[in-house]
Amino acid sequence: MVFGAAFTEHSLADLSLIISPEQPDDDVQIEKLSERTFGPGRFARTAYRLREGHSHLREFSFTARIGTLLVGSVRLAPIFIGKSKALLLGPLTVEPPFRSRGIGRALIEASLEAAKKSGVKLVLLVGDEPYYGRLGFKKVPKGKVEMPGPVDPDRVLIAELAPAAFEGVEGAVTPDWDAVK
Ligand SMILES: CC(C)(COP(=O)(O)OP(=O)(O)OC[C@H]1O[C@@H](n2cnc3c(N)ncnc32)[C@H](O)[C@@H]1OP(=O)(O)O)[C@@H](O)C(=O)NCCC(=O)NCCS
Repeated sequence: MVFGAAFTEHSLADLSLIISPEQPDDDVQIEKLSERTFGPGRFARTAYRLREGHSHLREFSFTARIGTLLVGSVRLAPIFIGKSKALLLGPLTVEPPFRSRGIGRALIEASLEAAKKSGVKLVLLVGDEPYYGRLGFKKVPKGKVEMPGPVDPDRVLIAELAPAAFEGVEGAVTPDWDAVK
């Protein structure tokens, strides 16, 4: 039985995507999103261990919202690769119903642009090359970078934000303590 309510059709296309630098108030929602996406196993991941106890930098970390709903997040944390300053990208998370709409790409592009603007030349991550390869990331040659835990070397990827920025860079990946605010 229909009660005569007037329905108006709305589509998500009516609501625009807002990409903004992360704010302290976003923490709770981002943590919930991460928990839903990665589950408790996330604590054992090498990338997580590297970030553990060290803050990501909000100026390079972005959220995606549709209306007021937080649907995606990317965080970047300061690291050293050997003696070179770099950022570690991750986690990147997009709420499942909102995937394959370019939100992941928009988040990464925003963070790389912010990193580049502030003079950061290298962004490292542990992830799938078929996805991140389209966004400018390349496989790190085996043995060049030493991660602080077990990783599949084929998943260690780097983006150079300046020409040949990765040339001559090698060594252990460690948190950049000085940059943590
Ligand atoms: C990976 C993730 C962030 C992508 O977000 P998204 O907003 O869907 O990304 P985009 O819209 O920019 O790109 C989507 C495309 O990438 C593809 N893609 C997604 N994950 C992929 C992967 N791991 N390998 C290869 N391709 C992948 C999708 O199939 C889609 O292809 P299509 O455009 O042909 O449909 C999202 O799927 C997610 O949150 N996954 C779970 C968490 C995760 O794995 N994070 C990355 C590791 S830190």
